[in-house]
Amino acid sequence: MSKITLTIDEQEIQVEEGTTILEAAREVGIDIPTLCYHPDLTLHGSCRVCVVENLDNDSLVASCVTPAADGMNLSTRSARARRARGRNVKLLLANHPNDCLGCDRNGTCELQDIVYKMGIRREEIEPLEGEKRNLPLDDRGPALKRDPNKCILCGRCVRVCEEVQGVSALQFSKRGFDSVVTTAFDLPQSEINCANCGQCATVCPVGAITEVSEIDKVWHALEDPDKHVIVQTAPAIQAT
Ligand code: FES
Repeated sequence: MSKITLTIDEQEIQVEEGTTILEAAREVGIDIPTLCYHPDLTLHGSCRVCVVENLDNDSLVASCVTPAADGMNLSTRSARARRARGRNVKLLLANHPNDCLGCDRNGTCELQDIVYKMGIRREEIEPLEGEKRNLPLDDRGPALKRDPNKCILCGRCVRVCEEVQGVSALQFSKRGFDSVVTTAFDLPQSEINCANCGQCATVCPVGAITEVSEIDKVWHALEDPDKHVIVQTAPAIQAT
């Protein structure tokens, strides 16, 4: 395969033809935030968190889905590129539950990490806030729980289920503000053809799909003892 030469942040880079801008930037250690991108899955280009500025024609391009071209001159850190990335992240936050401290992914959430790195403050999001989703949780599965209100529609779960597991238990449904990732006929995860492999939870960048924890099982058993697992307790400590 032939090589091409492009410039990113005033650095001249040589990469294989067919390399995306994101891959080219990462080859030389330039960090571009991503959310819908996953190296093991097909490209999606939906979150727009990875936009950079093409200085040749003053355009903004999603770096994860745009192939690098010979002679391209790009900036990942121009004011315009940073503003666009920040605005796209703020729009995601404007429709995202504000309960990071109580979320299973607190500390491992990719969105949270990007927000901290960008230094986005709460008061910058408030002017963008509008209607919020208030969808029911699907948290009674044996291994996985879903909170569609936290979903950022990156499609990583849909793609891993189809492309890696070959199951296609999850799909996009509805349109516009009502867009959601759900199961066939909106059935609970426990009633669909799901192998409970956990790949969707592994690739989910936020807390929209997580694994059922031992604490969750305790709560479920307390709420509905006939239906849920018997919780094994440690043997009682003998008094001496
Ligand atoms: Fe590029 Fe989402 S990471 S559009």
